[in-house]
Amino acid sequence: MQLSQGSMAASGDDDMADLVISSLPLETRCPPYHLRQHGGFWFSEPFLPAVAAARARFEARPSDVLLASFPKSGTTWLKALAIATLHRADHPPRSLDHPLRRRNPHDCVETRDSGDDVLAALPSPRLLATHLPYTHVPKSVTTEGAGCKIVYVCRDPKDALVSKWLFTKKRLAFAAVDDSPPKPYTIDEMFELFCDGRCTCGPQWHHVLGYWEASRRQPEKVLFLRYEEMLRDPVGNVRKLAEFMGCAFSVEEEAAGVAEEVVELCSMDTLKNMEVNKNGTQNHVRNEAFFRKGVAGDWSNHMTPEMAARLDKIVEDALRGSGFAFGATAESA
Ligand code: A3P
Repeated sequence: MQLSQGSMAASGDDDMADLVISSLPLETRCPPYHLRQHGGFWFSEPFLPAVAAARARFEARPSDVLLASFPKSGTTWLKALAIATLHRADHPPRSLDHPLRRRNPHDCVETRDSGDDVLAALPSPRLLATHLPYTHVPKSVTTEGAGCKIVYVCRDPKDALVSKWLFTKKRLAFAAVDDSPPKPYTIDEMFELFCDGRCTCGPQWHHVLGYWEASRRQPEKVLFLRYEEMLRDPVGNVRKLAEFMGCAFSVEEEAAGVAEEVVELCSMDTLKNMEVNKNGTQNHVRNEAFFRKGVAGDWSNHMTPEMAARLDKIVEDALRGSGFAFGATAESA
């Protein structure tokens, strides 16, 4: 299937049931995994069977909320905010035993890797997460009329690239502890691959566009957030998130500053300094690697102006005619 430039709406990977992974285009230069291309996107090869299985078998519930993102675009933050907002009645943000004080946000939200039984056993409303492009999300989620909702967070591609590069280096170093020393992985190597769309779930701009278009078609179903705007107005974005998830802050909660408490609990400073995030690990990386600077524009400390201009041009060309632009505000795009 070919993706039409500037529009993702026409794409549909339809069946992954007959997928022969070894026949798909292969990219071997993106550590830690080989990538395979399917439906216009690149996927980590070891995860493709689970993607196909989830697409075929996952049964969405009308009350599900799916948190979606391209990697390194604010997933951890969005997960924390969604958990703290959705479960605030049972777990007030200031409570000392709040789940986010004991567990990394990634450990509080399920993904397709959790397995069918775990997902089926979860009480409603379920909070789930994915990095899959919109075209590859299980149909039971995207079908019109399915009540479940999607919250997507997008980020400037240059910052996502730099964040991904630094994260991958940490990940390779972690994996290499008992193994041979990690092979150096330069920003130039990652830049070339990223510009060509060759990274997990890339091209990044097509990933973003798929969800943006879905949010325009079905605003009641897909909430499209921007990382940069969340940094600028975290409380406003948390209110938006709460309203979208069907649990708007009440007048009493507003008066008590609950939205501000959610933002405080999920802030970079608070999360970064929690014991579980300083010293805990996921199976492939230390939790601390998920919390770096958390700012907009850090790309300029790692990329030259020429690199930035080249990537901006690629993205601009790819998005021409779509109506979407990075850097626009929610109101203007
Ligand atoms: P930087 O590497 O630019 O600092 P993801 O969660 O999708 O993996 O994205 C990681 C990026 O989100 C990292 O960006 C990380 O620092 C930032 N981040 C993590 N937690 C955050 C928070 N609570 N507030 C703002 N940014 C956060």
